[in-house]
Amino acid sequence: MSEMREHWSGSLGFVLAAAGSAVGLGNIWKFPYIAGENGGGAFVAVYLICIAIIGFPIMLCEITMGRRTQKNPVGAFKALSPRKSHLANFIGFCMLFTAIALLFFQHYGYAVVLLILGSLVIRYGWTVVGIVGVFTGVIILSYYSVVGGWTLGYIIKSFSGELTYVKESAASASFDAFKNNIGWVITMQLGFIFLCALILLKGVRDGIEKWSKILMPLLFFLLIVLILRGLTLPGATKGVNFMLSPKMSNLSAESILIALGHAFFTLSLGMGTMITYGSYISREQNIFMSTLSIVVLDTVMAICAGLAIFPSVFAMGFKEAAGPGLVFNVLPAVFNSIPGGLGWLWAGLFFILLAIAALTSGISMLEVVIAFFVDEVKWSRKKAVIITASATAALGVLSAISISSWNRLEWLHIALVKTFGVESTGFFEVMDKLSSNWLLPLGGLSIAIFVGWIWGTKKAVEEIRHGSHNFADVHLISLLAGLKDDPSHNNSKYHVLTLASMWGIFIRFITPVAVMAAFLYEIGWLTFK
Ligand code: TRP
Repeated sequence: MSEMREHWSGSLGFVLAAAGSAVGLGNIWKFPYIAGENGGGAFVAVYLICIAIIGFPIMLCEITMGRRTQKNPVGAFKALSPRKSHLANFIGFCMLFTAIALLFFQHYGYAVVLLILGSLVIRYGWTVVGIVGVFTGVIILSYYSVVGGWTLGYIIKSFSGELTYVKESAASASFDAFKNNIGWVITMQLGFIFLCALILLKGVRDGIEKWSKILMPLLFFLLIVLILRGLTLPGATKGVNFMLSPKMSNLSAESILIALGHAFFTLSLGMGTMITYGSYISREQNIFMSTLSIVVLDTVMAICAGLAIFPSVFAMGFKEAAGPGLVFNVLPAVFNSIPGGLGWLWAGLFFILLAIAALTSGISMLEVVIAFFVDEVKWSRKKAVIITASATAALGVLSAISISSWNRLEWLHIALVKTFGVESTGFFEVMDKLSSNWLLPLGGLSIAIFVGWIWGTKKAVEEIRHGSHNFADVHLISLLAGLKDDPSHNNSKYHVLTLASMWGIFIRFITPVAVMAAFLYEIGWLTFK
């Protein structure tokens, strides 16, 4: 099959498509509001650390696995797994024992989940990571598309002249009214999924790559314009300070897990998106540099979004911890305060770009599921697109109708509380917390352990070396000193401090330990005084 597989046209195409996946609502909508709720600068600092020690190493793992196998996540794990893995069996049995213990404590919901997972792990080994990834793709897109739909709705609202407010109360009233107009929200959500499906039908090069190449530069340009606008408002420096000066006292225990979860979310890691996109790379490309570019682009875009929004929030006297409504409320008000009366036009442009960012990400989640059905179940691309998009839409509607209250879905609420004992404000939140705080970090942890210890860093680095022009083996000090190609710094003599060996140490020790520590911290087994 693999000679039939579509490929990106080159490095640029891949980097922009992957950055298109990474840069999305996570950067422009979610990052500013969770930073606002978790104390600003301190949160940003923890987030940046997570990106560097967890995000980058894991992204390189995923891309390497994808390019090596030229397969979707399930196929990739299947191809690289040893016939028998004692670690997988051990983990599987631990899950089964835990499940039985939970039965005694009458936590039936978790017990059943663990029973199923444990049996799958014993039967299929590491491939289960890929299987869970495919499911996660559907889960994330199901609620992501709700917000994607909001962006489409706000485009219409801008151009029809409905967004004329400048006050916070009017802004949030308008947002709440919109959010609770279920028929409208669902129509927009289905529209969003439909657009994703249209692009995906076109395939990898003419669909995903082509659109990313047009849309990404446009997005960046408009963000810059917005930043300039925000920074020139009187009182804007308070916003810049809020984002850039860390006050550790504002950071709660949960914030750390949120930062970690967001590092996975914003880089599209932990469910095999980058395995899938990596599988469309040909072997001549330098995946080390591509990974670095994607991570840097994504981080720059998140910081830019913060810089575009917080100065305005403070200058306009809005609350920084406004939650999910933050960009929907604040930005129109900011635009309306621009003299000249063209606020609607600016707002319209902004929401178009937000929709674009969301689209290039939405397609990447569904592509994982599609690639699975095309590679493993041998469906045609068209069939896969139609069926997966419909299933996602069906699940997504549940999020849309229970975004801020369970009123319309009382039965589901009762069922969830009875089986899992979780309290939440709606199905949307359940899906979001489940995926960002648990499934993605767990997936990422499994990928790191798999590449570091099961497949092995030796084979992974061998794959990274293809097309990387010795980059992986350059001595770090020579590189920083600008002596990379100096003959007397002949690389082969310095095996210790090379990029490859640094990455290996991260992926085997530092990254897994960091993720596990965050989990232990979350469940209360590890505390810092
Ligand atoms: N990274 C995207 C954002 O920031 C969302 C996204 C796309 C994603 N693909 C993903 C998140 C896969 C998790 C997994 O909006």
